[in-house]
Amino acid sequence: MKVLVVGSGGREHALIWKLAQSSLVDKIYALPGNGGIEEIAECIPISATDIGKIVDFSKNVDLVIVGPEMPLAEGLVNELPKNKAFGPTREAAIIESDKSFAKELMRHTGIPTAEFKVFTHFESAKDFVETTKYPIVIKASGLAAGKGVLIIENKKDALDALNKIMVEQAFGESGNKVVIEEYLEGKEVSVIAFTDGKDFLPLLPSQDHKKLLEGDKGLNTGGMGAYAPAVLTENEIGKVIEQVFEPCIWGMKKEGIIYKGVLYAGLIITSEGPKVLEFNCRFGDPETQPIMKLLESDLMEPILASIEGNLKSISLKWHPGYATCVVLASGGYPGSYEKGKEIIGLSEVQEATVFHAGTKREDDKIITSGGRVLGVTGIGKTLKESIALTYQEISHIHFDGMYYRKDIGSKNLSGGMK
Ligand code: AMP
Ligand code: GLY
Repeated sequence: MKVLVVGSGGREHALIWKLAQSSLVDKIYALPGNGGIEEIAECIPISATDIGKIVDFSKNVDLVIVGPEMPLAEGLVNELPKNKAFGPTREAAIIESDKSFAKELMRHTGIPTAEFKVFTHFESAKDFVETTKYPIVIKASGLAAGKGVLIIENKKDALDALNKIMVEQAFGESGNKVVIEEYLEGKEVSVIAFTDGKDFLPLLPSQDHKKLLEGDKGLNTGGMGAYAPAVLTENEIGKVIEQVFEPCIWGMKKEGIIYKGVLYAGLIITSEGPKVLEFNCRFGDPETQPIMKLLESDLMEPILASIEGNLKSISLKWHPGYATCVVLASGGYPGSYEKGKEIIGLSEVQEATVFHAGTKREDDKIITSGGRVLGVTGIGKTLKESIALTYQEISHIHFDGMYYRKDIGSKNLSGGMK
């Protein structure tokens, strides 16, 4: 089959790396791709949100796999023939593109989540934060690349945050509505599952590190690193499927929305059990990088089964051990940062896989072109070994301003989630 993967991040590089090993795939196109993807796929210089041009290009392929949320939210899948697209429609992608929709759905289907209120007017949000108890979490309701979530300790910061999101529109129109919710404490885990609209096939659970700084401090980012498997037992995953995934897609079905593709639940394991922080309508980034390293089965099988509606007949095989992905970012990310820095040492990395995100090729050089630049991903028999190998391989790589967290996965080593 000829396959087109839409997107240009580390997630897309990892998906393409895995698809390239499939006996069902003859040719891979990436759109627009990046400096690493172009070594294994043909990159097409079309933006991932140029729906018209993507639909035109899709005539050259048998299947389109959509990586990022933006083209899903903008309805790319609605414009493609049904059996040719992997990903939810615009109507189904609302589970990610409108956090207030997701929260209301969780409330009326009984999915455990933080208490919350939705505001569309600055004045009423302001009145609420004047009298509420702290800490709270303020979230832009629309898409904000993981950056529109602020954990707030006091009234002054709450007013500043509301100003930033609702008045100054720091995250654009996604801040026209805000969700304010109860702050929850616990370990986080991401569960991602294929679904054909009836059944679910979960991938290995993983743990992202969303905060910029070590010790989970600083601003939220798209994700600074992840490892898999995060320790949730099969039994616990089964419960999450029953209590979170099933009510989510059945709740949407009641509203006339069929959900197919992958569904991602960001969970926090509280003393009262797992609660949902967010749903995403796609694979996680960077969770996909360690997950793909550990997937032994052919990735095309669950993708095709999700489209065809026979996911029940599929199971997945995994390599034993652990994988850890550490994101190397441009200095300044998630704020403003410089681009165009030459990356050196990539060819010296022999034992880990370097998934590219914000990179491009210029003549014979690879240069930085985004905030999250590379995701170095190593495997090991234990989590500790996979972490050690990954950091050892990172020591070969350098670019001006390069920043990465030194503690990815390490919380779990000191008596973490079990
Ligand atoms: P979200 O995009 O909604 O998953 O939020 C991004 C990150 O913010 C999460 O991965 C958590 O680290 C943090 N977060 C979001 N909501 C809450 C909450 N209610 N309590 C504590 N932390 C939260
Ligand atoms: N790693 C978080 C996300 O993909 O949204």
